[in-house]
Order: sequence, then C-alpha cells, then structure tokens
Amino acid sequence: MNSRPRVYVTRALPRKALDRISEECDAVVWQGELPPPREELLARVSDMDGIVTLLTERIDSEVMSKAPKLKVISNCAVGYDNIDVKEATKRGILVGNTPGVLTETTADFAFALLMTAARRVVEADSYVREGKWKSWGPTTLLGQDVCGATLGIIGLGRIGAAVARRARGFDMKVVYHSRHRRRDLERELGIKYAPLNKLLSSSDFISIHTPLSADTYHLIGKTQLDKMKRTSVLVNTSRGTVVDNVALAEALRRGTIFAAALDVTDPEPLPPDHPLCMLDNVVLAPHIGSASVVTRTKMGLIAAENLIAGLKRRKMPSLVNTELLKSNKSKTTKF
Ligand code: DGY
Repeated sequence: MNSRPRVYVTRALPRKALDRISEECDAVVWQGELPPPREELLARVSDMDGIVTLLTERIDSEVMSKAPKLKVISNCAVGYDNIDVKEATKRGILVGNTPGVLTETTADFAFALLMTAARRVVEADSYVREGKWKSWGPTTLLGQDVCGATLGIIGLGRIGAAVARRARGFDMKVVYHSRHRRRDLERELGIKYAPLNKLLSSSDFISIHTPLSADTYHLIGKTQLDKMKRTSVLVNTSRGTVVDNVALAEALRRGTIFAAALDVTDPEPLPPDHPLCMLDNVVLAPHIGSASVVTRTKMGLIAAENLIAGLKRRKMPSLVNTELLKSNKSKTTKF
C-alpha cells in the first residue's frame, strides 16, 4: 500500500493507542460515548482499509459488504463473538484480538465479584448508608465462607487458570470443566477435571470463563441451576448469554442458589427494571472486568499493532483467523 491507509476507530481508545494508529494511518475516530449508530458504521466503512472495533459493534456480512477495501478488523477485546469471523475469512479480511494482557486484571475482578457476593459487601454498604445499622447482630448479613470452599471453574483458558491461581491463596479446592483437559495445569495448580454436572452439584462457587459460541450459549440454564447447591454463588465475567439470565433471576428469587455476581449480562446494558436488578442477592457490574488504566492501554496498543501489522502485510501480534495465513488468501498478507 503506497498512500496512508484509511481506518475507522469506533470509539476514543486510550490516547497512546490512538497516537500509534495516527502515526501510520489516517484515522477517523467516532467520538461518541455510545457506539456509533449502525447507519453511521455502515456509511463510514465504505472507503476504509481497516477498522478498530469494540465488542459493542456487530461486524457481520452487511458491514463487510459495505467495505470493499476492508483488509483488517482489529477488535479491542479478547472475545470476538461480535464479529462474523467465518465471513471475514471468506472475504480474506484479517481479524485481530487482544489476548494475554487482560488476563490478570479480569481474574482479579472475577475474584473481587466472588468475594463481594459471598460476603454480601454491596448489601452491607447499603445497610450502613441507609441507616439500617442499629446494633451489632449475631445473624446480620450472614454470607458464605470463601476460604476452604470448592470453586468450580467453567472454561480453563488463560483467565480461568488465573482465577484458579488466586483460589489457591484461599485454600480452595478447585475443580474445572473445559473443552480440553489441561493435565499440565492439573499438575501445576493441583486442580481436578470434572464433568459439568458433577462440577455444578459439588461446587460452592462457580466462575464462568468460557468464550461465547453456539456450544456455550445458555450453557447455564434452569436445568443446570437446579443442580447447584442452595448455598452456591455463580460468578460470570465471560459473556452474558452463556447464562440464561431469566432462569438465573428466577433461581435467585426463589433462593435455589445463594447469590450471583455478574460483570456480563443479557442484554447489555441491563435495563434498571430487569428482574435481576430487583434482587439483593445479585451483584452487578457494567462489563468492566478488564477496566484498569494499564490494561485498557495495553489492549488499545495491541489493537493498534494488529491493525498496522495487518495493513502492512506483517505478522500480527494476535491474529484470529490464522487459516488465512495457511491459505495465503488474505487481501494483504504474504507473511
Ligand atoms: C474482552 O476483552 O473480551 C472483554 O470482554 C472486554 O475486555
């Protein structure tokens, strides 16, 4: 490519990332706090060589067909379920994501949610602020013990393993269920594989770390919730639709599980009149698992480097559709 590539960035990323993109490309950055409206996205991509997207943008065949010059879609997230990767591959468009840099930050947050729900921290805060605290009470706001409890991890990728490492510090017994057995991590972390139903019925805490796919959509629904202990706590920091949120709200309302802590929901944003928002035994966060200053900057920089490398026919730091390398069919790539 001789002239500077044109790229569309769907939100104001951390400054360092935008500066890096501008060093190499002519960038149009959507400045809104909310995602660009669909019409804006469809109109903007028409003459773009690359786009940097967030998980809030659905990048499907409609978008791709409006962008005949598009060579790279760089998602500023580790998850890429917002992108039709199959379609991109068919069209020779490279797709990038940002794994690795957000692992520890997201695992920290999953553990923070676990502790918060177990010990009812949000309820306790309101109890004090609302003047309900009249005296020390032997049964006030009783929660569940974390130390020594059994943690079931669903999805033992990078983040799931990082949560298992944290659990060791709390003397937790860890079982996991994952697509692939990880005997190396079983040895390293002293954790055990379990079939899903066994994990559900034997865990005190369950933390979900599986990507969203056709196989994991509503992986946890009524049937699975019914298998969980009445004292158990469900934590989700992966994708909202991995859990059937209607069934979850009902389980929490009926008290068939003790509590839930959700960084991700279905839908997102969760409307304030959603059944989940009516319950005290659920802790809610607006999808901020990776939201630390340092991590979001690193994610932005990887997204920038993926974009630039893809456009310059260099090896991308993290390419999703690696099959394009093998077939050498990408619009830009001869790595
Ligand atoms: C991701 O990266 O997929 C997270 O959901 C946002 O950090």
